[in-house]
Amino acid sequence: MAGGPGTPQLVAAVSNAGGLGCLAGGYLHAEPLRQAIDTVRALTDQPFAVNLSAAPLAKPDPVRIARAQELLAPFRAELGLPPEPPPVPELPGFDEQLDVILEAQIPVVSFVFGAPDAAYLNLLHEAGITLMGTATHLLEAIVLEESGVDFIVAQGAEAGGHRGAFVGHAEQGMVGAMTLTPLLAKHIAIPIITAGGVMDGRSIAAAQMLGAVGVQMGTAFLACPESGAHPAYKALLSQGSEIATTLTRIFTGRYGRVLRNRLVNELHAHEAELPGFPLQLFLTQDIRQAAAEQGLTDFMALWAGQGCHLCEDRPAAALIAAWVEQATALLGAGTLPEPLPMPESASSAEDQWPDPASLI
Ligand SMILES: Cc1cc2nc3c(=O)[nH]c(=O)nc-3n(C[C@H](O)[C@H](O)[C@H](O)COP(=O)(O)O)c2cc1C
Repeated sequence: MAGGPGTPQLVAAVSNAGGLGCLAGGYLHAEPLRQAIDTVRALTDQPFAVNLSAAPLAKPDPVRIARAQELLAPFRAELGLPPEPPPVPELPGFDEQLDVILEAQIPVVSFVFGAPDAAYLNLLHEAGITLMGTATHLLEAIVLEESGVDFIVAQGAEAGGHRGAFVGHAEQGMVGAMTLTPLLAKHIAIPIITAGGVMDGRSIAAAQMLGAVGVQMGTAFLACPESGAHPAYKALLSQGSEIATTLTRIFTGRYGRVLRNRLVNELHAHEAELPGFPLQLFLTQDIRQAAAEQGLTDFMALWAGQGCHLCEDRPAAALIAAWVEQATALLGAGTLPEPLPMPESASSAEDQWPDPASLI
């Protein structure tokens, strides 16, 4: 979970509790990525994943940038910010991120917004790294399967944060997890992981019944003490409801699900005029930062899924233990897979992935 909530502490807590914590690396240059990996490693000796972005980057469009600045100017003034945002920083390169991943021998890498070129995927596979891609509809899943990833995250429309969509318009990928999971499980040969609206043992059990080998959970961890979400943001989550969330591209230039707030509501009519990812991310960066400093949720990016009303302020380990117990009771003892061992190729021969078919 990029953007603050996904701290190394949360990643380590999830891995220590038997999950696969996932570090958000997409926005990080080599040195901060290395440091974040080292911090996780200092807190856990369990495997964890790193998530990277395969997003094509929008070309700077001066007209859209000027329009966005015009639209954001009143909010900047209200927050006491200078009229102009800081210059766009240099973006981290995929190559520098991969060098860190390979050097640190990360066992699992997940991608969002598509998959990188085959040359990169081959390099990662040759290094024994297990790869996961994110699909929001069947065509994306087929593209990812053909690219050679090992697992597909089926990201349902309920999910918090960015839509992973990369084929067609984001709207075409607004398929609920309950529909998407069995659809992909039916047509895709590699294992499916359900994401979107999975908030407790009931939905973990449901995902398994629908053909998934596992779940990916984001929103359910947002209110944990290990989450880096602002306290005022955490406080809103459990008060939210499925209608409190909406899709917007005003924060980054890509569609993502957030809790509605003033900035979202007031810029909604102008979404189509804004520049693409990641330019809009940089145009709003100091607004989001000032909002956090001033505790103003009106101007924060409150990423949240439709299940946010079920968020609980409990340590990740306590939540995971409760969910596993609940899911096991629902599915019948012995049905849930043991915590996944290290991927076959990144570990010793006796540490093998279980046969996915045995997990369904
Ligand atoms: C705050 C937040 C940040 C996220 N950041 C990322 C990210 O950096 N990369 C990614 O692949 N998915 C990201 N996601 C999406 C999650 O990986 C996952 O698909 C989603 O949280 C699942 O739905 P749920 O929020 O209903 O659990 C983010 C989600 C949230 C809530």
